[in-house]
Amino acid sequence: MPPSSSQCPVDHSRIATSAPPISAEADLDEAVEFIEQFYAENPEAGDPARRLAWARAEILTTGTYHHTTAELVWGARVAWRNNARCIGRLYWNSLRVRDLRTVSDADSVAAHCRKHLRIAGNGGKIRPLISIFAPEAPDRPAPRIWNDQLVRYAGYRKVKGRPLGDPRYLGFTQAVRKMGWRPPYRPTPFDVLPLVIETVKDGPRLYELDPVDVLDVELTHPEFEWFAELGLRWHAVPAISNMRLVIGGVSYPTAPFNGWYMGTEIGARNFGDTYRYNLLPVVAARMGLDVSTDRSLWRDRALIELNVAVLHSYEKAGVTMIDHHAAANAFDKFEAIENDAGRVVHAKWSWIVPPISGCAVTLFHKEHWQDIEVLPAYRAQPDAWKEPKGTH
Ligand code: ARG
Repeated sequence: MPPSSSQCPVDHSRIATSAPPISAEADLDEAVEFIEQFYAENPEAGDPARRLAWARAEILTTGTYHHTTAELVWGARVAWRNNARCIGRLYWNSLRVRDLRTVSDADSVAAHCRKHLRIAGNGGKIRPLISIFAPEAPDRPAPRIWNDQLVRYAGYRKVKGRPLGDPRYLGFTQAVRKMGWRPPYRPTPFDVLPLVIETVKDGPRLYELDPVDVLDVELTHPEFEWFAELGLRWHAVPAISNMRLVIGGVSYPTAPFNGWYMGTEIGARNFGDTYRYNLLPVVAARMGLDVSTDRSLWRDRALIELNVAVLHSYEKAGVTMIDHHAAANAFDKFEAIENDAGRVVHAKWSWIVPPISGCAVTLFHKEHWQDIEVLPAYRAQPDAWKEPKGTH
């Protein structure tokens, strides 16, 4: 979208201008700015002067500092509030935080990731949750999770025809196979990949997820009985595990977090994209649509029915999921609340507007957002599994 003028004045003081920190040292200026912001938004915490002096001293003597639990919780929540790509930010303040900063060995990280899925899945009543593991520190490189989400499906190249499973994970699947992972005897389109946890001490290690920890939903359609025969399913918890949480100059590269799904992420993108499960031709054929011409809108009709099936199935299974209309309304509300609090909402239009029926939601008709990173932040970082060894 063309950038256009913001409806609210932009507060430049809180915008990250420096390059992403790659060092394990805490950035003093970012620390001071964060602590000041924490005290400004949490007046009950009192006067920041002593806290600032303590953090300064800690950074000067050790190169980094420890967040208080309250700072960590608030930092993780505000990083969500700040994320320009997320439509679900109305709920930022409800994020539950697991403080796992003392956890850094691979076995424990893996065990806590499994526990994360259980707590977040909550039998279907999804809880937004983050598990924050040991941060980067000068004497102590942080562990890393190689997977981009805790639950993802393997992709297999076939000799002829389309790949089996999720083509997005062809490379990752190959990487874990090289490390010794064996796919099931009969591979399926929905084989859950193992977790890979890397530490400096042990290098990368594989951990299978226990199927009981991976809540998922089988897809049916409210009208098309044949839909169940497609054998589609998807997992309940989207837990991003490859982003770096940056709070007050401290970097937490291993901090998997989740909200709940919006239906279109699965129904439109994961199943509809030609470079993912590419199911529009399959669904259109079963619907008996005329696929010989684009103008029959067979893709569009198949897309809608796929999305109907996703929303219907999650609802029937009692698994939390938001539809794109409710999500857009919630985002409008979020923006109004933020503006009332004197804050500007930054957003990336192409991520905020849903991938189907864009113009049927208010967000499509708004163009005032700027896509700017504000701190604290969830930040993309290089894929650990593609990095040359020993660089983090
Ligand atoms: N789009 C991603 C997926 O399909 C998930 C991204 C995060 N989504 C969320 N609702 N929190 O798996």
